[in-house]
Amino acid sequence: MHVYILLVLCVCLRGVTSFPNGKVEESCESMTPNHPEFKPQTSSSPYKVSVNSTTFTPGQTITVTLQAAENASEFQGFMLQAREVDRKTAVGRFTSINTVQSRALNCFNIENSTLSQASADKKSHFEATWEAPTNSSLGDIQFVVTFVKDYPVFWTMVNSSTIRSTSPINTPSTTRVTVILLALTFTSINI
Ligand SMILES: *[C@@H]1O[C@H](CO)[C@@H](O)[C@H](O)[C@H]1NC(C)=O
Ligand SMILES: *[C@@H]1O[C@H](CO)[C@@H](O)[C@H](O)[C@H]1NC(C)=O
Ligand SMILES: *[C@@H]1O[C@H](CO)[C@@H](O)[C@H](O)[C@H]1NC(C)=O
Ligand SMILES: *[C@@H]1O[C@H](CO)[C@@H](O)[C@H](O)[C@H]1NC(C)=O
Repeated sequence: MHVYILLVLCVCLRGVTSFPNGKVEESCESMTPNHPEFKPQTSSSPYKVSVNSTTFTPGQTITVTLQAAENASEFQGFMLQAREVDRKTAVGRFTSINTVQSRALNCFNIENSTLSQASADKKSHFEATWEAPTNSSLGDIQFVVTFVKDYPVFWTMVNSSTIRSTSPINTPSTTRVTVILLALTFTSINI
C-alpha cells in the first residue's frame, strides 16, 4: 500500500517541470532544471529569445520575448535572466510581472532578477519587461534562457543578441585616459 502511494507520487511529480527554489544559488547560476536523470540537449534550440533594443542605459526598460521557431513544438518551462556578457550572475529585475504565466525568483539576492514558468501549460510565446538597475553601471548584457520542452528535453544557456551598455558614466573616464595619453605623447616629443 505504501509503495503504491509512493509510486503514484513519483509519477505525478515527474510531470512537473521544476526549477528549485530561487534561494538555491546553484540553480540560479546553472539555470538547469532539477531533472537529474536527464542532460541538456546539445542541438541548437528550437526556441529563441529576442529583445526590442540594441542598447540600454541605467533604469531603461527592455521587452524580452521567448518564442518557439516556426513549426517547433511548444515549450512547458523556462528560466530567464539578464547577465553581463560572460558573467554568471543575474542583473536588473523584471517588472510588471505576469503572475499567471510566470513566477519571480530572488536569485543572487536581487528580488525578481529571475523568471520561471508558473505552470507546465504548453506555450509558444512569452513576453516580459526587464529594468536595468539605476544605481550601477553595467557592461554589455544578454538575456540567458533555459527552455524546457518536456521533462526529459531541455536546452540551457540560450542567449539573446548582445545589448550594448551606453551608460554615460563610462564615457568621461575613457575620454580622460585618451587626454592623458595625448599629453604624455606631446611631452615625450618635446624632450
Ligand atoms: C521596449 O519595451 C519597453 C517596455 O515595454 C518600452 O518602454 C520601450 O520603449 C521599448 N523600446 C523600443 C525601442 O521600442
Ligand atoms: C513549416 O511547415 C510548413 C507546412 O508543413 C512548411 O511549408 C514550412 O516550410 C515549414 N517551415 C519551416 C521553417 O520549417
Ligand atoms: C517583485 O514582483 C512582485 C510580483 O509582481 C511584486 O509584488 C514586487 O513588488 C516586486 N518587487 C520588486 C523589488 O520589484
Ligand atoms: C542598488 O539598489 C538595489 C535595490 O534597490 C540594492 O539592493 C543594491 O545594494 C544597490 N547597489 C548599490 C551598488 O548601491
